[in-house]
Amino acid sequence: MIEHISIMSFTLQVLIFSSLPFIFALLALKSYLSSSKHHKNLPPSPPKLPLIGNLHQLGSSPHRALQAMAQTYGPLMLLRLGSVPVLVASSVEAAREIMKTHDLIFASRPSLNIPSKIFYGLKDIGFAQYGEYWRQVKSIAVLHLLSNKRVQSYRQVREEEVDLMMKKIQKADESVVNLSELLVSLTNNVICRVALGKRYDGRKFKELFARTGALVGCFSVGSYIPSLRWVDRLSGLERKTDEVVKELDEFLEGVIDEHVSKKGERVEYEDLVDVLLDIQRDNRTGFKLQKDMIKAIILDLFIGGTDTTFTSLEWAIAELLQHPRAMKELQQEARKIGQGKSMIVEEDLEKMPYLKAVLKEVLRLHTPLPLLVPHESTQDVKVLGYDIPSGTQVYINAWAIARDPSKWEAPENFIPERFLNSSIDYKGFHFELLPFGAGRRGCPGIQFAVVVNELVLANLVYKFDLALMGQEGLDMSEINGLTVHKKCPILVSANPY
Ligand code: HEM
Ligand SMILES: *[C@@H]1O[C@H](CO)[C@@H](O)[C@H](O)[C@H]1NC(C)=O
Ligand SMILES: *[C@@H]1O[C@H](CO)[C@@H](O)[C@H](O)[C@H]1NC(C)=O
Ligand SMILES: *[C@@H]1O[C@H](CO)[C@@H](O)[C@H](O)[C@H]1NC(C)=O
Repeated sequence: MIEHISIMSFTLQVLIFSSLPFIFALLALKSYLSSSKHHKNLPPSPPKLPLIGNLHQLGSSPHRALQAMAQTYGPLMLLRLGSVPVLVASSVEAAREIMKTHDLIFASRPSLNIPSKIFYGLKDIGFAQYGEYWRQVKSIAVLHLLSNKRVQSYRQVREEEVDLMMKKIQKADESVVNLSELLVSLTNNVICRVALGKRYDGRKFKELFARTGALVGCFSVGSYIPSLRWVDRLSGLERKTDEVVKELDEFLEGVIDEHVSKKGERVEYEDLVDVLLDIQRDNRTGFKLQKDMIKAIILDLFIGGTDTTFTSLEWAIAELLQHPRAMKELQQEARKIGQGKSMIVEEDLEKMPYLKAVLKEVLRLHTPLPLLVPHESTQDVKVLGYDIPSGTQVYINAWAIARDPSKWEAPENFIPERFLNSSIDYKGFHFELLPFGAGRRGCPGIQFAVVVNELVLANLVYKFDLALMGQEGLDMSEINGLTVHKKCPILVSANPY
């Protein structure tokens, strides 16, 4: 027994001594690795929990939570959401570095589970990863689908839909008008007629797109903690996504078939499906536009264009109702331009600086996508002196930047006048105001969105005196979905002017 033990300890000793060089080598390697990590200058990070990292700190209103965190950790923070490193930019300088100086390196998108299913394996524009494919489809959007000329060609659609909305309000005749509902319909009708050639205002269609939007905007555990992907299965998220994907595909298939077969009959105007089918037919773009790509792009325009536009209109009216002086100012401008005409038309908008200022102020205070759409870096890069590894997701807190007290006077107040003598606009060149993002990934739909917003607002205040129904003040609380929108609908009385 004793002998046995001594043999064992002897073997142990041999083992230890013979492996010493190996152990030393290992220790040396470890200290080398960790020292090289120390040379890396990572941005400040709040403490994290195991597995979920900082996920629990985002709460129900991530843009607000991140604004508060930036006050402690600074304009560039490195969080971990699940297993994903996420850089958060909360200052003009940080945003400019990411979307201008290093725009190319940050021009990709994270590949997220749900959008991947919905957009045919990320064949859309908004979620496609940076590369040749994205470049091709983005340029189709910029040159052919959302160009100034194309947007102008849909002028009649917009004016008809605005006119229709005004008539609905007139009919309500002193009784309560649910403006939120009318605005949802209007945005939906405009985008349907422009993209698909006709209105789809049935309940089933609206519901399908509401479900799609909710899914795109929702948080999937599996995208951040791959080992917990089963949670998405268990919670029904995967099943819901599969159902929506199937229904969407049937719908889009039908739309495309209709366009292919009825070609020539519909002479009224060329809608966006027509434009895409034309591009598919002649080889203008130098690459083959497949059917799935067309479907994904059309879907993108719906998801990207409807909620954002509707939300900004809703906030605009809410702010004007809260600020009677601004409402009056805008009304006077509109009534001077309108001069008794039946409606304000698109040429008139150029002569309405106060209207434009109101819209800027609304997008500043109520950035519909407060964190834009996440970017992702494709190389190691230095930002404001910090090392940012390749594959880092990036949130730009455009909402917080637009309320930065070092850049804006009285940032929390609604003051359209601040834009009257200012050269600041929202097109991506002024990093204090980024509702549409900036750089390569910037929104291609600015023109499209702005003209709808301006036309609706101008006509609403031109034709009606709006007043809140009964309530003292208006509930301005927000709720996070695909966009950050008003929690309560706007109910008003509308007296014709
Ligand atoms: C007020 C209305 C709108 C707002 C606030 C808005 C905002 C944005 C933002 C913040 C982004 C991401 C920018 C970034 O990642 O840096 C974006 C991208 C995009 N938007 Fe808009 N948008 C609006 C309207 C529209 C409309 C009307 C359309 C089309 C009909 C549209 C189509 C797109 C597309 C296709 C992208 C993806 C671009 C890319 O990833 O390369 N948007 N938008
Ligand atoms: C107003 O319209 C919104 C949006 O369609 C709807 O959710 C809400 O229930 C409506 N409210 C009233 C009081 O009609
Ligand atoms: C487009 O390319 C295909 C094959 O690549 C060819 O058959 C077709 O004729 C081309 N169409 C036009 C309009 O050039
Ligand atoms: C804007 O500038 C004009 C003259 O350039 C001046 O009359 C006006 O008071 C200014 N408005 C504001 C809001 O600063």
